[in-house]
Amino acid sequence: MNVLPIEPATPATVAAAAQLLREGKLVAFPTETVYGLGADATSGLAVAGIFEAKGRPRFNPLIVHVPDLVAAESLAELNPTARRLAAAFWPGPLTLVLKQRPDCRIADLTTAGLETIAIRVPSHPVARSLLNASGIPIAAPSANRSGHVSATTAEHVEADLGAHVALILDGGPADAGVESTILDASGDEPLLLRPGAVTVDAIESIIGTRLGSSAPIAADKPTAPGQLESHYAPHARVRLDAHSAGPGEALLAFGRGVPAHHGSMINLSAAGDLKEAAANLFSALRALDRPDVTGIAVMPIPETSLGLAINDRLRRAAAPR
Ligand code: TXA
Ligand code: MG
Repeated sequence: MNVLPIEPATPATVAAAAQLLREGKLVAFPTETVYGLGADATSGLAVAGIFEAKGRPRFNPLIVHVPDLVAAESLAELNPTARRLAAAFWPGPLTLVLKQRPDCRIADLTTAGLETIAIRVPSHPVARSLLNASGIPIAAPSANRSGHVSATTAEHVEADLGAHVALILDGGPADAGVESTILDASGDEPLLLRPGAVTVDAIESIIGTRLGSSAPIAADKPTAPGQLESHYAPHARVRLDAHSAGPGEALLAFGRGVPAHHGSMINLSAAGDLKEAAANLFSALRALDRPDVTGIAVMPIPETSLGLAINDRLRRAAAPR
């Protein structure tokens, strides 16, 4: 029998959890909505561990948790409306999708290669002390396996993800049980992406107008119109299952046995490690997508574990546009 990784949240266990996060490990922690499965948002490898643990077949962008507005401003640009919303609802269950600052240090995998970033300042005291103790922005989706209901107790997390997390901080039941409300506040007019714990009425009373809505970038649903466009799509033609690259093509390689190639080449993981490949995927696509490149030839990637999400992303990059 494994020792249960659940620990009641105390200053000592929160400090230990913060250290584990800094080492790139996964830590589950309570928020005022649901339990989160946290990782260092600046580390692609740590965040790849989240997708591996959840068994998500798709890389959807994750919410980045920070301790306060100052920390949010170090990552993203807040327009006047976003600022009003932050002043009214932070700390609390409102997530704002904002434009990333050019010097934003969040890993590409955390934001799924988007130019925006979803940020939330949680109000739960355990989440807050973990953010303060770790000193790093924490990427955290709900701490459940993909397709299961969100976890509202440490025992739920243990049942779903116990084998994958270094530590589960037990702070009692999460009170809302509903996830945070997500607003796209990157433009002039905020849009509701996901209804949640903060009501539309409360938001409308702050912005002084009715709230429009838009489909979220969903984890498990088929791609809705508009979603692909909002994701980074390379300009170069993407060719899958390639065993060699032609003239003018860049090569996106995986594993050993890479064919000789004279143009640009990036190996997602020379060791053939899917977690490392996931961590490198979005930056590699962006780096190879240069004007002098006619196409990107992609070597086969195994259709197992994180390979499912990697191939999902590559298939969408290769889809006719
Ligand atoms: O209450 C919550 O928000 C919980 C706790 C743990 O904080 N977290 C949570 O995360 O619900 P998750 O991963 O289940 O939901 C993240 C959703 C994505 O599925 C996507 O719809 C949206 O946030 N999202 C994240 N970044 C985005 C972006 N840049 N643009 C649009 N939507 C984004
Ligand atoms: Mg979720």
